[in-house]
Amino acid sequence: MYTLDVRSESRPYRVHVGRNILARTGAIIREGTFARPGARCALVTDHHVAALYAENVSASLRTAGYFPSVVTVPAGETSKSMAEVARVADAMVDARLDRLSFIVARGGGVVGDLVGFVASIYYRGIPFVQVPTTVISQVDSAIGGKTGVNTPAGKNLLGTFYPPAAVIADVDTLDTLPAREFNEGFAEVIKHAVIRDRGLFDDLFQFERQGACDAMPGIIRRNLEIKAEVVAADEFERTGLRALLNFGHTVGHAVEQAAGYGRFLHGEAIAIGMVAAGRLSMELAGFPAKEFCRLVELMRHFSLPTGMPRETAVEPIMASLARDKKFEAAAVRFVLTSRIGEARLSEPGEVTTAMIRLAIERLTRSPDSSSGSA
Ligand SMILES: NC(=O)c1ccc[n+]([C@@H]2O[C@H](COP(=O)([O-])OP(=O)(O)OC[C@H]3O[C@@H](n4cnc5c(N)ncnc54)[C@H](O)[C@@H]3O)[C@@H](O)[C@H]2O)c1
Ligand SMILES: [Zn+2]
Repeated sequence: MYTLDVRSESRPYRVHVGRNILARTGAIIREGTFARPGARCALVTDHHVAALYAENVSASLRTAGYFPSVVTVPAGETSKSMAEVARVADAMVDARLDRLSFIVARGGGVVGDLVGFVASIYYRGIPFVQVPTTVISQVDSAIGGKTGVNTPAGKNLLGTFYPPAAVIADVDTLDTLPAREFNEGFAEVIKHAVIRDRGLFDDLFQFERQGACDAMPGIIRRNLEIKAEVVAADEFERTGLRALLNFGHTVGHAVEQAAGYGRFLHGEAIAIGMVAAGRLSMELAGFPAKEFCRLVELMRHFSLPTGMPRETAVEPIMASLARDKKFEAAAVRFVLTSRIGEARLSEPGEVTTAMIRLAIERLTRSPDSSSGSA
Protein backbone atom coordinates (compact mmCIF):
# COMPACT_ATOMS: atom_id res chain seq x y z
CA MET A 1 0.00 0.00 0.00
CA TYR A 2 1.16 3.54 -0.53
CA THR A 3 -0.26 6.85 0.59
CA LEU A 4 -0.39 10.27 -1.00
CA ASP A 5 -1.26 13.46 0.84
CA VAL A 6 -3.39 15.89 -1.12
CA ARG A 7 -3.14 19.55 -0.20
CA SER A 8 -6.37 21.50 0.09
CA GLU A 9 -7.08 25.02 1.35
CA SER A 10 -9.88 23.76 3.57
CA ARG A 11 -8.31 20.54 4.89
CA PRO A 12 -5.63 18.22 3.51
CA TYR A 13 -6.44 14.52 3.20
CA ARG A 14 -4.68 11.23 2.69
CA VAL A 15 -5.21 8.83 -0.20
CA HIS A 16 -4.50 5.15 0.52
CA VAL A 17 -3.93 2.98 -2.54
CA GLY A 18 -3.29 -0.75 -2.35
CA ARG A 19 -4.44 -4.24 -3.08
CA ASN A 20 -7.04 -5.96 -0.96
CA ILE A 21 -7.45 -3.03 1.46
CA LEU A 22 -11.26 -2.74 1.45
CA ALA A 23 -11.41 -4.86 4.59
CA ARG A 24 -9.23 -2.28 6.33
CA THR A 25 -11.62 0.63 5.64
CA GLY A 26 -12.77 0.90 9.26
CA ALA A 27 -9.24 0.72 10.66
CA ILE A 28 -7.98 3.39 8.23
CA ILE A 29 -10.87 5.68 9.20
CA ARG A 30 -10.05 5.12 12.89
CA GLU A 31 -6.50 6.37 12.19
CA GLY A 32 -7.97 9.68 11.01
CA THR A 33 -9.23 12.27 13.44
CA PHE A 34 -12.58 13.06 11.88
CA ALA A 35 -14.70 10.16 13.17
CA ARG A 36 -14.98 9.19 16.81
CA PRO A 37 -15.58 5.57 17.79
CA GLY A 38 -19.28 5.02 18.37
CA ALA A 39 -20.24 7.35 15.50
CA ARG A 40 -23.03 6.42 13.12
CA CYS A 41 -22.25 6.41 9.43
CA ALA A 42 -23.96 5.82 6.11
CA LEU A 43 -22.35 3.44 3.66
CA VAL A 44 -23.69 4.63 0.31
CA THR A 45 -23.21 2.45 -2.71
CA ASP A 46 -24.98 1.51 -5.95
CA HIS A 47 -26.84 -1.71 -6.79
CA HIS A 48 -24.01 -3.25 -8.81
CA VAL A 49 -21.36 -2.57 -6.20
CA ALA A 50 -23.64 -3.65 -3.35
CA ALA A 51 -24.11 -7.03 -5.00
CA LEU A 52 -20.37 -7.50 -5.51
CA TYR A 53 -18.98 -6.22 -2.24
CA ALA A 54 -21.80 -6.79 0.17
CA GLU A 55 -20.26 -7.20 3.55
CA ASN A 56 -16.56 -6.45 3.73
CA VAL A 57 -16.73 -2.68 4.25
CA SER A 58 -19.71 -2.82 6.65
CA ALA A 59 -17.98 -5.48 8.73
CA SER A 60 -14.75 -3.50 8.92
CA LEU A 61 -16.67 -0.37 10.01
CA ARG A 62 -18.40 -2.32 12.78
CA THR A 63 -15.12 -3.86 13.91
CA ALA A 64 -13.64 -0.37 14.14
CA GLY A 65 -16.48 0.68 16.44
CA TYR A 66 -18.80 2.49 14.02
CA PHE A 67 -22.51 1.90 13.34
CA PRO A 68 -23.10 1.77 9.59
CA SER A 69 -26.44 1.94 7.76
CA VAL A 70 -26.33 0.90 4.13
CA VAL A 71 -28.01 3.17 1.56
CA THR A 72 -28.19 1.90 -2.02
CA VAL A 73 -28.84 3.99 -5.14
CA PRO A 74 -29.52 2.76 -8.69
CA ALA A 75 -26.36 2.26 -10.77
CA GLY A 76 -25.60 4.79 -13.49
CA GLU A 77 -25.40 8.49 -14.28
CA THR A 78 -29.12 9.10 -13.69
CA SER A 79 -28.47 8.76 -9.93
CA LYS A 80 -26.58 12.07 -10.04
CA SER A 81 -29.84 13.95 -9.46
CA MET A 82 -31.49 16.11 -6.81
CA ALA A 83 -34.09 13.37 -6.37
CA GLU A 84 -31.35 10.97 -5.23
CA VAL A 85 -29.78 13.68 -3.03
CA ALA A 86 -33.12 13.97 -1.22
CA ARG A 87 -33.59 10.21 -1.00
CA VAL A 88 -30.11 9.59 0.43
CA ALA A 89 -30.47 12.48 2.90
CA ASP A 90 -33.89 11.18 4.03
CA ALA A 91 -32.43 7.71 4.60
CA MET A 92 -29.67 9.29 6.69
CA VAL A 93 -32.19 11.22 8.77
CA ASP A 94 -34.15 7.98 9.29
CA ALA A 95 -30.93 6.28 10.45
CA ARG A 96 -30.44 9.18 12.91
CA LEU A 97 -27.14 10.38 11.47
CA ASP A 98 -26.15 13.71 13.00
CA ARG A 99 -23.32 16.19 12.73
CA LEU A 100 -20.90 13.75 14.41
CA SER A 101 -21.65 11.13 11.75
CA PHE A 102 -19.83 10.52 8.49
CA ILE A 103 -20.53 8.95 5.09
CA VAL A 104 -18.60 6.36 3.12
CA ALA A 105 -19.05 6.55 -0.67
CA ARG A 106 -18.24 3.14 -2.10
CA GLY A 107 -18.56 2.98 -5.88
CA GLY A 108 -17.63 4.85 -9.02
CA GLY A 109 -17.65 8.55 -9.85
CA VAL A 110 -21.44 8.67 -9.75
CA VAL A 111 -21.65 7.55 -6.11
CA GLY A 112 -18.64 9.74 -5.19
CA ASP A 113 -20.04 12.92 -6.79
CA LEU A 114 -23.51 12.34 -5.33
CA VAL A 115 -22.33 11.45 -1.82
CA GLY A 116 -19.83 14.30 -1.72
CA PHE A 117 -22.66 16.69 -2.49
CA VAL A 118 -24.91 15.20 0.20
CA ALA A 119 -22.05 15.29 2.73
CA SER A 120 -21.42 18.96 1.97
CA ILE A 121 -25.00 19.97 2.83
CA TYR A 122 -26.06 17.43 5.48
CA TYR A 123 -26.08 19.27 8.83
CA ARG A 124 -24.18 21.96 6.88
CA GLY A 125 -21.38 19.49 6.17
CA ILE A 126 -20.19 16.20 7.65
CA PRO A 127 -17.02 14.28 6.72
CA PHE A 128 -17.10 11.73 3.92
CA VAL A 129 -14.70 9.04 2.80
CA GLN A 130 -14.27 8.07 -0.82
CA VAL A 131 -13.89 4.35 -1.49
CA PRO A 132 -13.60 4.43 -5.30
CA THR A 133 -14.16 1.16 -7.18
CA THR A 134 -13.80 2.20 -10.85
CA VAL A 135 -10.83 3.35 -12.92
CA ILE A 136 -12.35 6.84 -13.36
CA SER A 137 -12.91 7.29 -9.66
CA GLN A 138 -9.50 5.92 -8.64
CA VAL A 139 -7.49 7.99 -11.12
CA ASP A 140 -9.62 11.12 -11.09
CA SER A 141 -12.96 11.81 -9.40
CA ALA A 142 -12.20 10.63 -5.85
CA ILE A 143 -9.73 13.46 -5.34
CA GLY A 144 -9.99 17.15 -6.02
CA GLY A 145 -13.12 17.89 -4.01
CA LYS A 146 -15.56 18.60 -6.83
CA THR A 147 -18.99 17.19 -6.01
CA GLY A 148 -22.17 17.54 -7.96
CA VAL A 149 -25.31 16.33 -9.60
CA ASN A 150 -26.86 16.91 -13.02
CA THR A 151 -30.08 18.67 -13.95
CA PRO A 152 -31.99 17.99 -17.17
CA ALA A 153 -30.26 21.08 -18.55
CA GLY A 154 -26.67 19.96 -18.05
CA LYS A 155 -23.88 18.03 -16.34
CA ASN A 156 -22.79 18.93 -12.80
CA LEU A 157 -24.80 22.16 -12.81
CA LEU A 158 -25.39 21.83 -9.05
CA GLY A 159 -22.39 21.13 -6.89
CA THR A 160 -19.90 22.16 -4.26
CA PHE A 161 -16.17 22.15 -3.58
CA TYR A 162 -15.95 19.72 -0.69
CA PRO A 163 -12.83 17.57 -0.22
CA PRO A 164 -13.16 14.08 1.25
CA ALA A 165 -11.72 13.34 4.70
CA ALA A 166 -9.86 10.33 3.27
CA VAL A 167 -9.70 8.20 0.14
CA ILE A 168 -9.26 4.42 0.17
CA ALA A 169 -8.64 2.94 -3.29
CA ASP A 170 -8.49 -0.84 -3.45
CA VAL A 171 -7.02 -1.70 -6.86
CA ASP A 172 -8.35 -5.27 -6.68
CA THR A 173 -11.93 -4.01 -6.97
CA LEU A 174 -11.18 -3.10 -10.60
CA ASP A 175 -11.05 -6.81 -11.46
CA THR A 176 -14.84 -7.05 -11.50
CA LEU A 177 -15.36 -4.06 -13.82
CA PRO A 178 -16.94 -4.99 -17.17
CA ALA A 179 -14.69 -4.24 -20.18
CA ARG A 180 -16.65 -1.17 -21.25
CA GLU A 181 -16.48 0.44 -17.78
CA PHE A 182 -12.82 -0.49 -17.43
CA ASN A 183 -11.93 1.09 -20.76
CA GLU A 184 -13.89 4.31 -20.26
CA GLY A 185 -11.67 5.08 -17.28
CA PHE A 186 -8.71 5.31 -19.59
CA ALA A 187 -10.22 8.37 -21.23
CA GLU A 188 -9.34 10.33 -18.07
CA VAL A 189 -5.92 8.64 -17.95
CA ILE A 190 -5.27 9.71 -21.56
CA LYS A 191 -6.48 13.22 -20.64
CA HIS A 192 -3.94 13.43 -17.81
CA ALA A 193 -1.21 12.18 -20.14
CA VAL A 194 -2.08 14.72 -22.85
CA ILE A 195 -2.02 17.71 -20.55
CA ARG A 196 0.91 16.72 -18.33
CA ASP A 197 2.85 13.51 -19.03
CA ARG A 198 4.22 12.49 -22.41
CA GLY A 199 5.94 9.44 -20.89
CA LEU A 200 2.64 8.12 -19.57
CA PHE A 201 1.08 8.68 -23.01
CA ASP A 202 3.80 6.59 -24.69
CA ASP A 203 3.60 3.85 -22.04
CA LEU A 204 -0.14 3.45 -22.47
CA PHE A 205 0.32 1.92 -25.93
CA GLN A 206 1.88 -1.12 -24.20
CA PHE A 207 -0.99 -1.51 -21.72
CA GLU A 208 -3.11 -4.64 -21.91
CA ARG A 209 -5.73 -5.41 -19.27
CA GLN A 210 -4.75 -9.07 -19.24
CA GLY A 211 -1.93 -9.34 -16.74
CA ALA A 212 -2.28 -5.68 -15.76
CA CYS A 213 -2.55 -6.28 -12.00
CA ASP A 214 1.06 -5.30 -11.53
CA ALA A 215 0.83 -2.22 -13.77
CA MET A 216 -2.42 -0.81 -12.37
CA PRO A 217 -1.15 0.52 -9.00
CA GLY A 218 1.61 2.42 -10.85
CA ILE A 219 -0.84 3.90 -13.35
CA ILE A 220 -3.18 4.98 -10.58
CA ARG A 221 -0.29 6.54 -8.68
CA ARG A 222 0.92 8.60 -11.66
CA ASN A 223 -2.57 9.85 -12.33
CA LEU A 224 -3.24 10.73 -8.70
CA GLU A 225 0.04 12.61 -8.57
CA ILE A 226 -0.81 14.60 -11.70
CA LYS A 227 -4.28 15.49 -10.47
CA ALA A 228 -3.17 16.22 -6.89
CA GLU A 229 -0.45 18.58 -8.11
CA VAL A 230 -2.81 20.49 -10.41
CA VAL A 231 -5.55 20.69 -7.77
CA ALA A 232 -3.14 21.84 -5.05
CA ALA A 233 -1.93 24.66 -7.29
CA ASP A 234 -5.40 25.90 -8.26
CA GLU A 235 -8.07 24.21 -6.16
CA PHE A 236 -10.88 26.65 -6.94
CA GLU A 237 -10.08 27.25 -10.63
CA ARG A 238 -8.84 30.78 -10.09
CA THR A 239 -5.72 30.78 -12.24
CA GLY A 240 -6.89 28.53 -15.06
CA LEU A 241 -4.44 25.71 -14.23
CA ARG A 242 -7.11 23.37 -12.87
CA ALA A 243 -9.25 24.11 -15.90
CA LEU A 244 -6.68 22.16 -17.97
CA LEU A 245 -8.22 19.02 -16.45
CA ASN A 246 -11.23 19.85 -18.61
CA PHE A 247 -9.40 18.84 -21.79
CA GLY A 248 -12.06 17.15 -23.95
CA HIS A 249 -14.80 18.01 -21.46
CA THR A 250 -16.44 21.03 -23.10
CA VAL A 251 -17.62 19.04 -26.11
CA GLY A 252 -17.64 15.78 -24.08
CA HIS A 253 -20.14 16.99 -21.49
CA ALA A 254 -22.39 18.43 -24.21
CA VAL A 255 -22.31 15.12 -26.11
CA GLU A 256 -23.01 13.17 -22.90
CA GLN A 257 -25.96 15.35 -21.94
CA ALA A 258 -27.47 15.72 -25.43
CA ALA A 259 -27.33 11.98 -26.11
CA GLY A 260 -29.19 11.29 -22.85
CA TYR A 261 -27.36 10.04 -19.76
CA GLY A 262 -26.48 6.41 -20.18
CA ARG A 263 -26.13 6.46 -23.97
CA PHE A 264 -22.41 7.20 -23.71
CA LEU A 265 -20.52 6.47 -20.51
CA HIS A 266 -18.76 9.57 -19.20
CA GLY A 267 -15.31 8.42 -20.39
CA GLU A 268 -16.69 7.58 -23.84
CA ALA A 269 -18.16 11.06 -24.24
CA ILE A 270 -14.84 12.54 -23.10
CA ALA A 271 -12.96 10.47 -25.69
CA ILE A 272 -15.20 11.98 -28.38
CA GLY A 273 -14.62 15.42 -26.86
CA MET A 274 -10.86 14.89 -26.96
CA VAL A 275 -11.02 14.19 -30.70
CA ALA A 276 -12.79 17.54 -31.19
CA ALA A 277 -10.27 19.28 -28.90
CA GLY A 278 -7.40 17.61 -30.78
CA ARG A 279 -8.71 18.88 -34.14
CA LEU A 280 -9.13 22.42 -32.81
CA SER A 281 -5.62 22.17 -31.38
CA MET A 282 -4.25 21.30 -34.83
CA GLU A 283 -5.94 24.37 -36.30
CA LEU A 284 -5.12 26.82 -33.55
CA ALA A 285 -2.22 25.62 -31.43
CA GLY A 286 0.12 23.91 -33.89
CA PHE A 287 -0.69 20.43 -32.56
CA PRO A 288 1.08 18.18 -35.12
CA ALA A 289 -1.20 15.97 -37.27
CA LYS A 290 1.02 13.01 -36.42
CA GLU A 291 0.37 13.46 -32.70
CA PHE A 292 -3.36 13.85 -33.32
CA CYS A 293 -3.32 10.49 -35.13
CA ARG A 294 -1.51 8.88 -32.19
CA LEU A 295 -4.13 10.33 -29.81
CA VAL A 296 -6.91 8.74 -31.88
CA GLU A 297 -4.91 5.50 -32.09
CA LEU A 298 -4.49 5.41 -28.30
CA MET A 299 -8.21 5.87 -27.77
CA ARG A 300 -8.89 2.99 -30.15
CA HIS A 301 -6.38 0.90 -28.20
CA PHE A 302 -8.83 1.21 -25.29
CA SER A 303 -11.87 0.62 -27.56
CA LEU A 304 -13.08 4.18 -26.94
CA PRO A 305 -15.33 5.90 -29.50
CA THR A 306 -13.69 8.61 -31.61
CA GLY A 307 -16.76 9.81 -33.47
CA MET A 308 -20.55 9.69 -33.49
CA PRO A 309 -23.15 8.14 -35.81
CA ARG A 310 -23.80 10.13 -39.00
CA GLU A 311 -27.43 10.82 -38.06
CA THR A 312 -26.44 12.57 -34.76
CA ALA A 313 -28.20 15.94 -34.48
CA VAL A 314 -25.70 18.74 -33.81
CA GLU A 315 -28.23 21.30 -32.54
CA PRO A 316 -28.97 19.68 -29.13
CA ILE A 317 -25.21 19.39 -28.53
CA MET A 318 -24.74 23.10 -29.30
CA ALA A 319 -27.66 23.97 -27.00
CA SER A 320 -26.11 21.96 -24.19
CA LEU A 321 -22.74 23.60 -24.81
CA ALA A 322 -24.29 27.03 -24.38
CA ARG A 323 -25.39 26.09 -20.84
CA ASP A 324 -21.96 24.78 -19.84
CA LYS A 325 -20.31 26.33 -16.80
CA LYS A 326 -17.11 26.66 -18.81
CA PHE A 327 -18.77 29.21 -21.11
CA GLU A 328 -17.82 32.15 -18.93
CA ALA A 329 -19.89 35.18 -19.94
CA ALA A 330 -20.12 33.75 -23.45
CA ALA A 331 -16.33 33.80 -23.83
CA VAL A 332 -15.29 30.24 -24.51
CA ARG A 333 -12.19 29.09 -22.60
CA PHE A 334 -11.21 25.94 -24.38
CA VAL A 335 -8.32 23.63 -23.48
CA LEU A 336 -5.85 23.24 -26.36
CA THR A 337 -2.66 21.23 -26.66
CA SER A 338 0.31 22.15 -28.82
CA ARG A 339 2.10 18.87 -28.11
CA ILE A 340 1.39 15.77 -26.01
CA GLY A 341 2.27 16.56 -22.39
CA GLU A 342 1.37 20.25 -22.58
CA ALA A 343 -1.88 22.18 -22.57
CA ARG A 344 -3.12 25.74 -22.27
CA LEU A 345 -6.39 27.62 -22.06
CA SER A 346 -7.45 29.46 -25.19
CA GLU A 347 -7.54 33.24 -25.14
CA PRO A 348 -10.99 34.88 -25.16
CA GLY A 349 -12.19 34.94 -28.75
CA GLU A 350 -9.58 32.45 -29.99
CA VAL A 351 -12.04 29.55 -30.13
CA THR A 352 -15.41 30.61 -31.50
CA THR A 353 -18.73 28.80 -31.28
CA ALA A 354 -18.62 28.38 -35.07
CA MET A 355 -15.28 26.55 -34.80
CA ILE A 356 -16.68 24.22 -32.14
CA ARG A 357 -19.75 23.54 -34.28
CA LEU A 358 -17.54 22.56 -37.18
CA ALA A 359 -15.46 20.27 -34.95
CA ILE A 360 -18.66 18.58 -33.72
CA GLU A 361 -19.97 18.20 -37.28
CA ARG A 362 -16.71 16.55 -38.25
CA LEU A 363 -17.18 14.00 -35.44
CA THR A 364 -20.21 12.69 -37.32
CA ARG A 365 -18.37 12.50 -40.64
CA SER A 366 -15.77 9.97 -39.56
CA PRO A 367 -17.88 7.99 -37.13
CA ASP A 368 -16.30 5.35 -34.96
CA SER A 369 -18.74 5.04 -32.12
CA SER A 370 -18.57 1.29 -31.67
CA SER A 371 -18.36 1.15 -27.86
CA GLY A 372 -20.76 4.05 -27.41
CA SER A 373 -23.47 2.25 -29.31
CA ALA A 374 -23.13 -0.99 -27.36
N1 LIG B 1 -15.70 14.98 -9.34
C1 LIG B 1 -14.80 14.89 -10.30
O1 LIG B 1 -13.76 15.55 -10.24
C2 LIG B 1 -15.03 13.96 -11.45
C3 LIG B 1 -13.96 13.62 -12.30
C4 LIG B 1 -14.19 12.69 -13.31
C5 LIG B 1 -15.45 12.12 -13.48
N2 LIG B 1 -16.47 12.50 -12.63
C6 LIG B 1 -17.80 11.90 -12.75
O2 LIG B 1 -17.69 10.51 -12.55
C7 LIG B 1 -18.78 9.87 -13.20
C8 LIG B 1 -18.27 8.66 -13.95
O3 LIG B 1 -17.66 7.78 -13.04
P1 LIG B 1 -17.65 6.19 -13.28
O4 LIG B 1 -17.21 5.94 -14.65
O5 LIG B 1 -16.91 5.62 -12.15
O6 LIG B 1 -19.21 5.84 -13.28
P2 LIG B 1 -20.14 4.96 -12.36
O7 LIG B 1 -20.03 5.35 -10.95
O8 LIG B 1 -21.47 5.02 -13.00
O9 LIG B 1 -19.57 3.48 -12.53
C9 LIG B 1 -19.63 2.84 -13.78
C10 LIG B 1 -20.37 1.48 -13.66
O10 LIG B 1 -19.52 0.55 -13.00
C11 LIG B 1 -20.21 -0.09 -11.94
N3 LIG B 1 -19.19 -0.45 -10.95
C12 LIG B 1 -18.58 0.36 -10.07
N4 LIG B 1 -17.59 -0.30 -9.42
C13 LIG B 1 -17.59 -1.56 -9.90
C14 LIG B 1 -16.80 -2.70 -9.64
N5 LIG B 1 -15.77 -2.66 -8.80
N6 LIG B 1 -17.08 -3.84 -10.32
C15 LIG B 1 -18.10 -3.88 -11.22
N7 LIG B 1 -18.87 -2.81 -11.52
C16 LIG B 1 -18.62 -1.67 -10.86
C17 LIG B 1 -21.22 0.91 -11.50
O11 LIG B 1 -22.29 0.28 -10.84
C18 LIG B 1 -21.65 1.53 -12.83
O12 LIG B 1 -22.59 0.69 -13.45
C19 LIG B 1 -19.43 10.91 -14.09
O13 LIG B 1 -20.63 11.34 -13.52
C20 LIG B 1 -18.43 12.04 -14.12
O14 LIG B 1 -19.05 13.28 -14.30
C21 LIG B 1 -16.27 13.39 -11.63
ZN1 LIG C 1 -14.27 13.57 -16.70
